[in-house]
Amino acid sequence: LRVLSVASEAVPLIKTGGLADVVGALPGALAPHDVEITTLLPGYPAVMAAIGKPRTLHTWPALLGEPARLVAGKIDGQPLLVLDAPPYFTRGGGPYADPSGRDWGDNWRRFAALGRAAADLAGGIVKGRRYDLVHAHDWQAAMTLAYLRFAPVAGSSPLPGVMTIHNMAFQGWSGAETFAGLGLPREAWSMHGVEYHGGVGALKAGMEAASAITTVSPSYAAEIRDPQFGMGLEGIVVSRGERVHGILNGIDVREWNPNGDLRLAARFTARRLDKRAANTRAIESEFGLDAADGPLFVVVSRLTWQKGMDVLLQVLDHLVGLGGRLALLGSGDAALEAGFHAAAARHPGRVAVRTGYDEALAHRMQAGGDAILIPSRFEPCGLTQLYGLAYGCVPVVARTGGLADTVIDANVAALQAGVATGIQFDGVTPNALTAAISRTVALFRQPELWRQLQRNGMAGDFSWARSGKAYADLYARLVEEVR
Ligand code: ADP
Ligand code: GLC
Repeated sequence: LRVLSVASEAVPLIKTGGLADVVGALPGALAPHDVEITTLLPGYPAVMAAIGKPRTLHTWPALLGEPARLVAGKIDGQPLLVLDAPPYFTRGGGPYADPSGRDWGDNWRRFAALGRAAADLAGGIVKGRRYDLVHAHDWQAAMTLAYLRFAPVAGSSPLPGVMTIHNMAFQGWSGAETFAGLGLPREAWSMHGVEYHGGVGALKAGMEAASAITTVSPSYAAEIRDPQFGMGLEGIVVSRGERVHGILNGIDVREWNPNGDLRLAARFTARRLDKRAANTRAIESEFGLDAADGPLFVVVSRLTWQKGMDVLLQVLDHLVGLGGRLALLGSGDAALEAGFHAAAARHPGRVAVRTGYDEALAHRMQAGGDAILIPSRFEPCGLTQLYGLAYGCVPVVARTGGLADTVIDANVAALQAGVATGIQFDGVTPNALTAAISRTVALFRQPELWRQLQRNGMAGDFSWARSGKAYADLYARLVEEVR
């Protein structure tokens, strides 16, 4: 089977969050199932620089009005296609925002162009390139499915499309005036087309057009049927019924393996947890934290409302009062960044903060932290708890989405059965988080139990094996349907 996977980010080329980890891992995860995934990415400067000398496959004099070309390269041995369109993608800042952090005003058009290019490619504009199915990730790729449905390449046969929702909070809405710029026929402007609340809804359009919708954990698939998590799109989720699937993300175990990770001060295994201490010392000295007998909590996160970071700020005095310490790596909302810097100033040697993005440090923190705090208000899947489990950094998580699905709470029964892997709490409130931190500190003070939690987590299989198969089965069913 040949699948065209369309996304706005993928490791190792460009990453702002877990989406990139997943899109980057899918080709490798599906290869054992005889599925060849070709990834199509926008040609941001970082991507163009990484692919070296690209080969041009197609040129558009005007792709939604701007010149563009499709180029081919390889990444990690897997085929990669890039939409090189300087007016859209050759800009400073990040993939979605200018250097000051403000979203580009023409994002609707930049990613519609990506979708138009993907639909052309899927429709066979490049000789010798055929696909059996198109897989669109998040709103930035969602218009691909709308173009395939309403404006396919003339004479091409219909292809099944999968729409994966990595985060319902980002829906890609733009005003009604943008519709004319999309190059879609009038009939696309309808309740079951691209129209959403009087404008264009990219994610909504993709969900309506998709042969199947997936999201990244079973619990989130259930949660988005409710307004709180569906954020306005719950009606479509419900109406698409059996066509909605929750497939848990895996982790790339070649990248995230504490026994082979060259970024660490010391490599270790579940049997040699004693070696882990060197990593803890390394984080303490890197962050300027005092050695202490309480746990070293870590956070590796976007600093946003989703992640509950405002609630964490409110309970830091309690965390420190119990003998805990916190090392935080994150970036995002300016107010949250400032809040954590202020907390660090209030608790020198106890709370320390790094703002910015640092992949290697993220690995070292999972290896050196005793526990990773993830108080998310919602979490479609979450990867940092999985990295924590793999690295013996016990996850302390809100019971939501993928966090609920992947961590086994250390309640009395689970402890007795010897299966607990972390701490879960209900409701992201200062009280609930305070109680969870207290429980964590109490467990940490029982070294035997704590080691058990670490070992149980490390014994789990969070590789792509199971979910790779789940995607392969879904692809096969959908391709069968149109044959
Ligand atoms: P989300 O995609 O919602 O941000 P995930 O847990 O799925 O949440 O994925 C986050 C990814 O980004 C993980 O790979 C995590 O290690 C990484 N990450 C987040 N913030 C940082 C940072 N400041 N530096 C390095 N890596 C980070
Ligand atoms: C999103 C979600 C996160 C998920 C990631 C990859 O960014 O917020 O929970 O793990 O996508 O699917």
